Amino acid sequence: MNNILTIDGPSGVGKGTVARLMAQKLGWNLLDSGAIYRAFALVVFDSGVDIADEAALAEVASKFDLSFKTEAGSELVSVFLAGKEVSKNLRTEKVGEMASKIATIGSVRSALLKRQRGFAQVPGLVADGRDMGTVVFDKAPFKVFLTASADERAKRRLKQLQAQGTAGIISQILEDVQRRDERDRFRKNSPLIPAEDALTIDTTDISIDEVIEKVSELVTKTKA
Ligand code: C5P
Repeated sequence: MNNILTIDGPSGVGKGTVARLMAQKLGWNLLDSGAIYRAFALVVFDSGVDIADEAALAEVASKFDLSFKTEAGSELVSVFLAGKEVSKNLRTEKVGEMASKIATIGSVRSALLKRQRGFAQVPGLVADGRDMGTVVFDKAPFKVFLTASADERAKRRLKQLQAQGTAGIISQILEDVQRRDERDRFRKNSPLIPAEDALTIDTTDISIDEVIEKVSELVTKTKA
């Protein structure tokens, strides 16, 4: 399947929003790969498996019962573990932090690879995460890497939390965002880096419409 657009970048950069809008615009499927890591983090909390036991973690990662449901006519995706909806439980910083810890383990990443690649279905796929363009869909024809200053990303994350009805303190969010990024950037397995053939867009001072315009241009130009 050749219609794959990958959108990678650090936390709070707006990958999710850009991926959702692009999927809508192109009429393609959507993969929020972070949701898979977050759902697995919930399973780890619930199962009590020792996070130092890599073999046990990889075993659970290859088997846990995860499904997604997209609302007809919208790009809103609900996440289910063993048939129970967990969408709202995924977005806490505690879950993000655990996701980022278990995401450093190579055998866990390998166990989650097949699930992610399974999303590449016609007519196309927009996939967002940290290693979509470098590892999971390394042959994708359209690749984007989004960046923004840490301050701006913390502000966006605060807005997102507020929209969900959760309070947050900007200095604490900034610290969380930076700690998680550092772990994602400097890990040995699939670190957060732009693919060599990715278009990097600094979104600090531009609107979401401008980002969508640049990404759309990339898809149209590369296709032509
Ligand atoms: O994107 P999101 O904040 O939901 O991702 C949560 C964590 O999952 C990230 O901090 C990262 O450690 C991990 N992740 C990853 N590779 C991906 C997507 C997410 O390592 N493709």
